[in-house]
Amino acid sequence: MAIEREVAGLRCGEVLAELSDFLDGDMSLERRAQVQAHLDGCDACERFGGAFTAAIRALRQGEPMPPSEASIAFARLSVRLENAGRVGDPATGGFMSGTEHFDQAAATWDLADRRVLLAHAVAEAISSRVPLSKELNVLDFGCGTGLVTLELAPQVGSMSGADTSPGMLTTLAGKAESQGIPVRLLPLTTEGTGDLGGPYDLIVSSMTLHHVADVPALFSRFVQHLNPGGQVALADLDEEEGTFHEDAAGVHHQGFPRNRIHDWLEDAGFRAIQVETATVTAKEGKDYPVFLATARRA
Ligand SMILES: C[S@@+](CC[C@H](N)C(=O)[O-])C[C@H]1O[C@@H](n2cnc3c(N)ncnc32)[C@H](O)[C@@H]1O
Repeated sequence: MAIEREVAGLRCGEVLAELSDFLDGDMSLERRAQVQAHLDGCDACERFGGAFTAAIRALRQGEPMPPSEASIAFARLSVRLENAGRVGDPATGGFMSGTEHFDQAAATWDLADRRVLLAHAVAEAISSRVPLSKELNVLDFGCGTGLVTLELAPQVGSMSGADTSPGMLTTLAGKAESQGIPVRLLPLTTEGTGDLGGPYDLIVSSMTLHHVADVPALFSRFVQHLNPGGQVALADLDEEEGTFHEDAAGVHHQGFPRNRIHDWLEDAGFRAIQVETATVTAKEGKDYPVFLATARRA
C-alpha cells in the first residue's frame, strides 16, 4: 500500500488538494515553489494522484501525457507559461483579462475539490433558504462551469446560465449535455453586458459579484429581469485582505462588507433582505467566510 510522504514541508494529500490551482497558476509564487519542490522530490504522489496521476508524472519527468483531463490541465499550464512574458507586463500592455483567465481555467475548474465543495455548499444554502419548485424560472449569473447551475436545475422549472467566459460556457454545455440537464446559455460581453433573458422568479450567483465592477448597477439590472416578487440568492466572499486571488485579473472587490451588500440591494428596490453565512472556504490554510444574500423584489 502506498505511503503518503512529507516532502518540502507538504504532504502528498496537501499537494493533490492544490494541484488544480497549481496547474491553473492560481497560487502564490512561494506556494508554487513549495508544491514544485514536493513534486520534484516525492515519488509517492503518482500513486495517490487519481485524475492527476498523469499530470504529476509529466511534471516530474517531462513525459508526454495520455489524453485525459489531466493532460488538458497540463496543456493549459503550457499556454500560461508561454504567455508568461506578457501576463502582468505593463510594458507590453499585455495583462491577461479576467475573461481570458476564466477561459484558460475552464477545462480544469472542476478538478479543484475546494471549488466543487464551495459550490455544493452554496447550492445547499440556496435551497435551504429559498423554496425551490418546478414553477420557478431561474438564472445563474456568472454560472462558470455550472457547479451551482446543474445542482439546482433538477429542482426548478427552467435554468439559464449567463457568463462572460466562452470557455466556461463551453464546459457547462458539455456537462449539461452529458448529464441530460437542459440549461439555456447566455453569453455576455467581456464587460458583462448582454441579454440576460427572463423575466425570472429567482436569480442566483456564486463567487461572481467580486468580478463585477459596478455591483449596484448589476442589482438594478437584476430587478429589471425579475418578475414581481422574484428573488435573488447571491453568494460571495466576506471582505478579505486581498489574499484570496493570487491572480487579480478581473477582480474588482476584495470581498464585501455585508452591510454594503444589504444597502445596495435596498437601494436597488429589494426588500426582505438577509445576509447570512453560507459556508467557509479554505485556501492555502486560510479560512474565507462566504455569505449568502437573499432578497425579494418589491
Ligand atoms: C469564480 S467563478 C464562479 C463560477 C461559478 N459560479 C461557480 O460557483 O463555480 C466567476 C465566474 O464569473 C464569470 N464572470 C466574471 N466577470 C463577470 C461579469 N462581469 N459578468 C458575468 N460573469 C462574469 C467568470 O467567467 C466565471 O465563470
